[in-house]
Amino acid sequence: MKPLVVKIGGSILGKNDTTFEDLVTLQKWNMPVVVVHGGARVVNDWLMRLNIPTSFINGLRKTDMETLRVVAAVLAGLVNKELVATICCLGGKVVGLSGVDGIMIEAKNKTPELGYTGEELKVDGTLLKILLQSGYIPVIAPISLGPLKNSDSNIKLLNVNGDTVAGEVAAALDADKVIFLTDVHGLYDGSKKLISKLSMDEAKNMITSGVAVGGMVAKIEACLAALAKVPVTRIIDGRVSHALLNEMEDKGEGTTIAR
Ligand SMILES: Nc1ncnc2c1ncn2[C@@H]1O[C@H](COP(=O)(O)OP(=O)(O)OP(=O)(O)O)[C@@H](O)[C@H]1O
Ligand SMILES: [Mg+2]
Repeated sequence: MKPLVVKIGGSILGKNDTTFEDLVTLQKWNMPVVVVHGGARVVNDWLMRLNIPTSFINGLRKTDMETLRVVAAVLAGLVNKELVATICCLGGKVVGLSGVDGIMIEAKNKTPELGYTGEELKVDGTLLKILLQSGYIPVIAPISLGPLKNSDSNIKLLNVNGDTVAGEVAAALDADKVIFLTDVHGLYDGSKKLISKLSMDEAKNMITSGVAVGGMVAKIEACLAALAKVPVTRIIDGRVSHALLNEMEDKGEGTTIAR
C-alpha cells in the first residue's frame, strides 16, 4: 500500500488535537502514514527568548550558526518529542526522527544570504520504508545533513523548510497523496477566495503573480515537486475538526493541486 504523507504546519500545532487522534485512527486502519512537522512559531518564540533576531526571504528563514542551533534544538528536540509523546499517549505506534537520522535527507546551502538553510533536497526513503513496514508512524523534524561529499565544507546540519521535506519525502516514497495541514482554508486567489482545484501551471502562476507569498510559496513549490511522482497534493485547513479523516472520505474542503 502506498503511504500518505502529512505535513503538520507549525501554524496549527497545539490548536487542534483531532489531527493526532486521526493519525492513530489511520494507523488502526493499517494505513501507512509519514508525518512531517513545521514549527516556525515555536522557533520564533525561542529565538525571541534568547534575543536572537530573525528574518525570512520568500518564506525561508535566514539561518546563522546561532539560529541553526536553536532551530535544531527546538524542532528536532522539543517540537518533535512533544508530537511523538502526544501520539503515543493516544495509543499510536510512533517514532520521532529528523532528516539527519539514517542519512535520510541531504541538502545544499545554495543561497548564501540564507546561511545554514538547506535547499535541493536528496531523500533516501530506506529507513522510512523499514519503519512503515514495521507499523510505525515516522514523525520527521525538518533538519537535514549538509553536503556530505563536499570535503571543503564543515556544515553538518541545515535548516530545511518542512513543506519542502514533505514534498520530497512524498516523491521518494511514491506516496499516494501528500496533505499540507495549515492555518488557512487552502490557497486563496487575489480576492481571498478559496481555490478548490489548480493545474500545475496555474499553481506556478500563483507564485509568479505574487498572489501566493510567504509560507505559501514553499507549500506550492513542494506540491509541484511532489507531483513528479505523487498523483494528488492537497492544502487544507488543519484547524478543522477531523480534517484528516474528512480527507479520507473525500469530504474535505481545501485546495487540490494535481497533474
Ligand atoms: N494566496 C495565499 N493563500 C493562502 N495563504 C497564503 C497565501 N499567500 C500567503 N499565505 C500565507 O501562508 C500561510 C501558511 O504558511 P505558514 O508557513 O505560515 O504556515 P505553515 O507552513 O502551516 O506552518 P510552519 O511553516 O510552521 O510549518 C498562511 O497563514 C497565509 O498567511
Ligand atoms: Mg510554513
